[in-house]
Amino acid sequence: MDEERIISPMLENSTEERLEKSLRPKTLDEYIGQDKVKENMKIYIESAKKRKEPLDHCLLYGPPGLGKTTLANIIANEMGSNLKVTSGPAIEKPGDLAALLTNLSEFDVLFIDEIHRLSKSVEEILYPALEDFTLDIVIGKGPSSKSIRLDLPKFTLIGATTKAGSLTTPLRDRFGIIHRLELYSPEDLTTIVKRSSKILNVNIEEEAAQEIARRSRGTPRIANRLLKRVRDYAIVLGDGDINLKITKHALNKLEIDELGLDEIDRKILETMIVQYGGRPVGIEALAATVGEEIDTIEDVYEPYLIQIGFIARTLRGRKVLPPAYKHLGYEIGDVS
Ligand code: ADE
Repeated sequence: MDEERIISPMLENSTEERLEKSLRPKTLDEYIGQDKVKENMKIYIESAKKRKEPLDHCLLYGPPGLGKTTLANIIANEMGSNLKVTSGPAIEKPGDLAALLTNLSEFDVLFIDEIHRLSKSVEEILYPALEDFTLDIVIGKGPSSKSIRLDLPKFTLIGATTKAGSLTTPLRDRFGIIHRLELYSPEDLTTIVKRSSKILNVNIEEEAAQEIARRSRGTPRIANRLLKRVRDYAIVLGDGDINLKITKHALNKLEIDELGLDEIDRKILETMIVQYGGRPVGIEALAATVGEEIDTIEDVYEPYLIQIGFIARTLRGRKVLPPAYKHLGYEIGDVS
């Protein structure tokens, strides 16, 4: 399998990215967690292979860092197909998408990250492509313009988004397989940290792996990032082996607290407690006060804070809950 990043907004060949890729599992059996998704995908992939047809189009959604791109790689690999990678914002014009689609080969997997950010005119080209592998192109302008229909190779689209709710209904309806990725349990993250340590060739104590897992807010990408930073401390301050003491020291230096909250999580909670006196607050007001984008708060910070019971979404806005007061050392009623 060959991953080809067509248009990449990321630092492509940095050491960090190469390392990140080396940690990614290549098969469903190597992939830890997301059991429901894995179980279902195994059946769909096996069935498609037996039918000698491409896999149905898949939509993967959920918070960032949970392995949507990794899964797309694995799906292509398990299907024995090539993967082509692009993203919603990178496809600016209908012609960009037409070029992409006409360059696909039979059974290719096309991965579109942030698919909720496709423009309307691009999305409209996609509908017939997904439905019956055709492309409608208009040639010329005005009364003499002509519409021609091209046949496309049979392919599989994998769309990824942090916001399934932002997808238009006609687009969502064209995915035969829709899966939500969930935040990982500390147990699964511990297994991931131990697997990554093995790949990175570092010894890690069980308790140290658990500590990293516990502070990774349910997210493998964060777990792997913290592991690499802890390894730096272990190499410089110790003999390179990772034990619980060096792990705690490193994570404290990184200002990642006992629950994995960082400076911005704490700022969000503190704003809700102090500035808004614990009353429900709208996401727009909260984002403006904290100085972060609404999307960043909704996609990156909020899912974990909701998961650990620190905030709740109510009809009147976001509300900070008692465990958050306790964690930050406030008494309820301290401020109002
Ligand atoms: N590395 C990152 N995510 C992973 C996962 N789900 N399973 C195994 N290794 C991983």
